[in-house]
Amino acid sequence: MDPTEDPIQAAIANPQNMGEMADADSVGTVGNPECGDMVRMWLKFSEKDGRKVIDRASFQSFGCQTAIAVASMATEMLKGKTVEEACDLRSSDLSEPLGPLPPMKLHCGDMVEGALREALKAEAGGAGPAAAATEPSLVPGDTLLGSLQAPALKSGKLKVVKLD
Ligand code: FES
Repeated sequence: MDPTEDPIQAAIANPQNMGEMADADSVGTVGNPECGDMVRMWLKFSEKDGRKVIDRASFQSFGCQTAIAVASMATEMLKGKTVEEACDLRSSDLSEPLGPLPPMKLHCGDMVEGALREALKAEAGGAGPAAAATEPSLVPGDTLLGSLQAPALKSGKLKVVKLD
């Protein structure tokens, strides 16, 4: 297949909403001990027609290309969604524009869903990025790199694969 026709390759070539969001209202981080990858998602909310909706979403990933592609799609898809609508989204919904993921890549989409759920949970609990950053698993910093340097992750149980 022509790489330009592969939606995953196209998404990786031009990822959307990648990077930290300084003014985020909530943040969620998940890691997969099996593959050692991590995804962090930031959400910013606004009011629209009397409803609280996701205004913007962004992500950072120390993950495989599929995770980046799904996170890129997901952060686009989340714009304008209410918290309830976002809660209903499963990894299969988030990755749907990319076509069916191979079985060995399903967990990549699950990780993006997990980061979204953590961010929504932080929002529901009223915990913003600062609160999330004080969780033991996220010490010593609130950056994804800081999370990777946390003592629990330095135990050697996780393998970190840096992106090119
Ligand atoms: Fe682990 Fe894709 S997120 S291989």
